[in-house]
Amino acid sequence: MLIRKLEKDDARLLRSCRLFGLKESPDSFLAAYHEVSDTPLSDVESELEDENIRYVGAFAGEEIVGFMRFVRFKRSARRHVAEVRSVYVKKALRGQQIGSRLLRHLIEDARAAGIESLVLAVLADNAAARRLYESRGFQLHGMEPRGVKKERGYIDQALYSLDLTAT
Ligand SMILES: CC(C)(COP(=O)(O)OP(=O)(O)OC[C@H]1O[C@@H](n2cnc3c(N)ncnc32)[C@H](O)[C@@H]1OP(=O)(O)O)[C@@H](O)C(=O)NCCC(=O)NCCS
Repeated sequence: MLIRKLEKDDARLLRSCRLFGLKESPDSFLAAYHEVSDTPLSDVESELEDENIRYVGAFAGEEIVGFMRFVRFKRSARRHVAEVRSVYVKKALRGQQIGSRLLRHLIEDARAAGIESLVLAVLADNAAARRLYESRGFQLHGMEPRGVKKERGYIDQALYSLDLTAT
């Protein structure tokens, strides 16, 4: 399976995979389906051209079947840190190390961009995602109680970081 950086020309494929994921796994994301479906394609293209954002995608043929991104903080005092967001692999293809390969790629891209630390927040009850992050070396550094409010109630957020200068 090809894993590579996503470019502006991938905007339509990325949007379609993101919308598929929001329908398939709505519990795993903060965004709601309508919030993303209302977003014009040009916004996705702008994200893909933004120097502070890096998307990587996994391709099965012409189709994107998984993706994730980091967003680098803009303020000069925070530019050494980026946040991992929008982590997704299609359900039918999970458990085949696609998430691990995407994350490894993203970590190497972050390192190459001079980023020193990656941070992320994940729903505390999302065992698969937490295992993915921990298996790539992310350390739990805190919990945000009741950080997310969904229809099923409040959910704590687990807060992780990865020190890229340590290895
Ligand atoms: C989280 C997610 C991206 C993982 O993708 P994946 O391709 O299945 O992950 P991998 O096959 O690379 O597995 C990574 C690690 O997690 C473990 N894992 C995978 N599924 C698991 C599960 N359901 N429960 C516990 N651990 C699991 C694997 O064993 C592996 O650990 P290892 O490296 O020690 O063997 C995928 O489950 C997903 O898209 N979930 C829905 C969206 C989501 O939750 N996003 C995160 C939002 S913060």
